[in-house]
Amino acid sequence: MSRIVLRDLTKSFGALSVVDPLSLDIESGSFVSIIGPSGCGKTTLVRVIAGLEPASSGEVSVDGAPPREARMRKRVAMVPQQPGLLPWRTVRSNAHLLLDVNRRANPNDAADAMALLHEVGLSDFLQAYPHELSGGMQQRVALVRALTLHAPLLVMDEPFAALDEITRTEMRGMLNRLVEGRGVTVLFVTHSITEAVALSDRVLVSSPRPTNVVADIAIDLPRPRSVEVEDDPRFVELCAHVRHALHGGMRGTSETR
Ligand SMILES: Nc1ncnc2c1ncn2[C@@H]1O[C@H](COP(=O)(O)OP(=O)(O)O)[C@@H](O)[C@H]1O
Ligand SMILES: [Mg+2]
Repeated sequence: MSRIVLRDLTKSFGALSVVDPLSLDIESGSFVSIIGPSGCGKTTLVRVIAGLEPASSGEVSVDGAPPREARMRKRVAMVPQQPGLLPWRTVRSNAHLLLDVNRRANPNDAADAMALLHEVGLSDFLQAYPHELSGGMQQRVALVRALTLHAPLLVMDEPFAALDEITRTEMRGMLNRLVEGRGVTVLFVTHSITEAVALSDRVLVSSPRPTNVVADIAIDLPRPRSVEVEDDPRFVELCAHVRHALHGGMRGTSETR
């Protein structure tokens, strides 16, 4: 059964049409990226899927439930573009935020959050405050905070967009290690071709607004993936494929961002 099903989904804000009738099936456990020009409606689309925004028409289901319900049952976790850490909380306490807010008193929670912090390389910074961390480290805390929910669907909206290239490359390696073998479905928004290909099982290329999928590209690179995959000729070929689809989709429009 597919984890995410969209049938003729549309979304508009007043007269502004942001998502065209869109039908899509996303398999359980797959890593799917959405790549498209700025302003095309990627954030809007994933916010609808994550249950943060109602659809205008059509159907969306996440694990067979409407997105709002899936969100309330903690079946969806979201990592936004800005880490959004609370400045007065330490790394450890920020990582715990969602567990605290949701009052999920599970005795394993603390150990679990700690294991995740260790996994992303933050063991030495548990008592540090957000202002003492680099952007990449802050984003790791935000990722851990989302993973503590153990939601089967993780939605990430350009989580690495504000980071420098070297840090982004590290984050790709870390994210691949974290999600491989966890069975979590990931919906990942990006406008980096390299990032989309390095991380995904499937890349959906969006047209300019209103968003629609102009290409659906299977990324047949082996897993587990390390950064070395980026030297593989097949990797380069797949990046070119995505780039052509992206620019083909933008032809005839004035959108060049
Ligand atoms: N809450 C809103 N009200 C009105 N317009 C919105 C709202 N959210 C987004 N939009 C508009 O929808 C379009 C797509 O935005 P967005 O989904 O953020 O694009 P992307 O994430 O691809 O850059 C933009 O033109 C934006 O101005
Ligand atoms: Mg966006």
